Amino acid sequence: MGRNYKTIEESDLHFFKALLGERLHADEETCRHYGHDETEDLSFPPQVVLKPETTEEISQIMRHCFREDIPVTPIGARTGLSGGALSVYGGVGLALDRMNRIIKIDEDNHQVWVEPGVITQVLQEEVANKSLYYAPDPASRGSCFIGGNLAENSGGPHAVKYGVTQDFVLNLEVVLPNGDVIWTGANTLKNATAYNLTQLMVGSEGTLGIITKAVLKLIPLPQRSVLMLVPFFKASEACKAVADIFKLGITPSALEFMERDAIQWTLDFMGESTIQLGEDVDAHLLIELDGNDENNIMADCERIMNLLDTFKTDEILFAESEAQKDQLWQIRRKVGEAVKANSIYKEEDTVVPRYHLPELLAGVKEIGSRYGFKSVCYGHAGDGNLHINIIKGDLSDEIWNNDLPLAIREIFQLTVDLGGTISGEHGIGWVQKNYMDIPFDQITLELMKGIKDLFDPKGIMNPGKIFPDTIK
Ligand code: LAC
Ligand code: ZN
Repeated sequence: MGRNYKTIEESDLHFFKALLGERLHADEETCRHYGHDETEDLSFPPQVVLKPETTEEISQIMRHCFREDIPVTPIGARTGLSGGALSVYGGVGLALDRMNRIIKIDEDNHQVWVEPGVITQVLQEEVANKSLYYAPDPASRGSCFIGGNLAENSGGPHAVKYGVTQDFVLNLEVVLPNGDVIWTGANTLKNATAYNLTQLMVGSEGTLGIITKAVLKLIPLPQRSVLMLVPFFKASEACKAVADIFKLGITPSALEFMERDAIQWTLDFMGESTIQLGEDVDAHLLIELDGNDENNIMADCERIMNLLDTFKTDEILFAESEAQKDQLWQIRRKVGEAVKANSIYKEEDTVVPRYHLPELLAGVKEIGSRYGFKSVCYGHAGDGNLHINIIKGDLSDEIWNNDLPLAIREIFQLTVDLGGTISGEHGIGWVQKNYMDIPFDQITLELMKGIKDLFDPKGIMNPGKIFPDTIK
């Protein structure tokens, strides 16, 4: 696998210690702690964990590592699902926990300046106090960092109306692999000034540099919402209803899909008994509408109800209070954890144009029955973004290790054939990189590798990610 980097030596530790003092950790426990994220049960500890507090310290660390040929992996809150923060070559684990300041909220321009270690929900709550909204909200928003959201171009349930992380980024301060510090753009809503380095950084999974500051866009906080949980007797009908809702000319602020097992396993996992699933219910849609005008919201709601009358649904649950909305969102946000607690699994973050969701779901089930695996699917149906959780259950290790990659290839090929791609919001990272030949041809992959080499000529910046092993 890959090339040999220099192993960190006494002299390197000496340099880091002089720079960071107690904020250097080389003990096994800390390195193990920073060696995993939420991706399966993978563990790749760095050789040393560094906790810088300033851009200048990061610049000096990078300058040293560049000179000495030491790999560096930026590490956020380790909630990632594609292994982007794993130190697969050891080296330096650059933990950004301590760069967690909200530098300023600029109410005049609807902008906020943040460091990468700010927890997404903390940012959302701070700006909500000023009636402003930062919409991207991955399921892990209570613990994930903005830096990780930027690196992976995270989405979440509200992306369907408001957009994903990239849609809220104006300008970034970045430390390049050689230690140079740049700003990528301008703090403006419009920018037609040459190449868009800001958007190149977003979603680059820490392979081009380290984001040390971000200027983010804010919007006015919507004042009202309604939330309903709609049980369908057929999952395919739930998927079909998704595109039909948009065809009414309505954009819900969230439109989530959960197969029966996704919601049942979560209710069991949470010990939640106030919600009972009807016996023949196959899947649910969680539909949210938001805005400022109650009458408009209710009018849209009524049109959606009329549409749903044409489908076979069980009794619809309307959240009657803020507490009940929170409860439903808690359940939805915990599905990933519940699946993880249930079985060894692999998760694929497929995305297709939303009208093709029924075909994707049917195709996944067909592939599953041929290969003999069960899958639990849920996700952001309004975006056509389906999280496919392949459950190990009783499958032998042999089938899991040898046949499953072939089945995943088929799922990804289907996704691409439907006009989609292999990750909507979790990134490629370590676990999907050997499927990159499916969405991209060799020419495109080499063009991307050329960009990587330009930023990172020595290949020290989060190595082992994104590019398939066949690309050197
Ligand atoms: C979710 C995460 C897994 O949607 O993306 O729950
Ligand atoms: Zn998701």
